[in-house]
Amino acid sequence: MPRPTVARIDLDALKHNFRRARELAGTAYAMAVVKADGYGHGIGSVADALAPETSRFAVACIEEAIAIRGAGHRHSVVLLQGTHQKDDLAECEQSGFEPVLHCQQQLSWLGAGRSPRFWIKVNTGMNRLGFRPEELPEVMAGLEETGLKHLAIGFVTHFACADDPDSEMTGLQTRIFERAVAPWPDLMRSVGNSAAHFRPNQPLYEWSRPGIMLYGASPMEGKTGAELGLCPAMTLQAPLITTRVVRAGESIGYGASWTASQDTRMGMVAIGYADGYPRHAGTGTPAAVRGQRIRLLGRVSMDMLAVDLSAVPEAREGDLVELWGKTVSVDEVAGYAGTIGYELLTGVTSRVPRVHE
Ligand SMILES: Cc1ncc(COP(=O)(O)O)c(C=O)c1O
Repeated sequence: MPRPTVARIDLDALKHNFRRARELAGTAYAMAVVKADGYGHGIGSVADALAPETSRFAVACIEEAIAIRGAGHRHSVVLLQGTHQKDDLAECEQSGFEPVLHCQQQLSWLGAGRSPRFWIKVNTGMNRLGFRPEELPEVMAGLEETGLKHLAIGFVTHFACADDPDSEMTGLQTRIFERAVAPWPDLMRSVGNSAAHFRPNQPLYEWSRPGIMLYGASPMEGKTGAELGLCPAMTLQAPLITTRVVRAGESIGYGASWTASQDTRMGMVAIGYADGYPRHAGTGTPAAVRGQRIRLLGRVSMDMLAVDLSAVPEAREGDLVELWGKTVSVDEVAGYAGTIGYELLTGVTSRVPRVHE
């Protein structure tokens, strides 16, 4: 019998969240961003759930696009980083993968054999990838000369601060993008990550690219997923394997970092940082058992962590503890661990089976 430490994936929640993205996208279509193994939810099952809802997926790299084909889906798949080598373009062309070309080297690989349809990345201020606006005329002229322009699908940019409702950068990036691509109105445009869907009056043009919101975590600073109408898709749970009373003055775990000020009933939960639970989540980080909120005590070990059961005296060995899910959001745990929900969801390790339901 395997350990009952599992990540339960609610496929209806995924669909609900995708529909929410589509509704917010207005006249734009939404491509489902399923990179990093569907943000840790299992790319094949996520693709199965969302396949009837969209005609495009987006991933980081070709291996992930191949995984979508492996799950039997014929959708267009956008490779957000393009390809890492020239030879992969032939596979893109055969398989209907759409690389996002972001640099001269990737452009120079086109035309050497059969070329796929592609997107062009514009750097509007994120300064990770893409051509500067002033480079676009030369890029497009080059494509005309080589007879490859007809393979261009559209332009893509990515926002640096869309999660911050007070930042003016998204508006600035949008204006830069719109001006940069205006000479080619026959090509499509895609700018919007999840957060952009929640910004009033933000144009999303022809295609939006929701990722984290599909999984029910909040893309907006200061707002919970629930406040944004999202449902958590992953519940990470693990069993209580023992309970005991630690006496006043006794400590728990490595570093003896938490000491009881009074007799305290606590439990050990079979999950640790080797499962992807963040080691930086300290005393006080919330969890839940029997639908009630409890808190972590002391340091997270590799395979275990301790919780305070004072608030739930009826909790017993074998009860399942929710580390994050519908009672305690992944964003809340991330806040305690000094990180973001993205990192926690994508960091659940392969030791934790995903159960799709
Ligand atoms: C280029 C690009 N588009 C869209 C997304 C989706 O972003 P989010 O998960 O914030 O919705 C990402 C994610 O990192 C990305 O890199």
